Amino acid sequence: MKKVYIGCDHAGFAIKGLVIKLLQKRGYEVEDLGTYSSERVDYPDYAEKVARAVAADKESFGVLICGTGIGMSIAANKIKGIRAAEVHDYYTAQMARAHNDANIVCFGERVVGPGVVESIIDAWCNTEFEGGRHENRVKKIMALEE
Ligand code: RB5
Repeated sequence: MKKVYIGCDHAGFAIKGLVIKLLQKRGYEVEDLGTYSSERVDYPDYAEKVARAVAADKESFGVLICGTGIGMSIAANKIKGIRAAEVHDYYTAQMARAHNDANIVCFGERVVGPGVVESIIDAWCNTEFEGGRHENRVKKIMALEE
């Protein structure tokens, strides 16, 4: 069973429960790394927790939710081995997997509603990395870490 690490800040807390349920319904084992209330916190702390967990567990992927998805993706991409993609809808979630082999999906609770979140999870879970011409491009991204 594929493992999913999920994290949010206070601005993503309200929708996190729905996301966990959607992932569990699809058979994933979900580990919730916080935050656990709507009390104000700093999103980089949760981006770091999820990004380090995903970087250490190559078979897993991560989900990060904040107000916009922007801060979470910026912070998570600082961790070696992470390709965090901020997505907005089915298409961007699908492309983040198919072309970028992203291993963390980020989105904003203040940007997308429950219906769009479900389509993001659908696209993310049902799309494999295409490889081929994208393989070398992803390798070039990872080489930028050196
Ligand atoms: C919190 O107000 C907000 O700045 C944060 O959730 C996120 O949107 C940052 O990128």
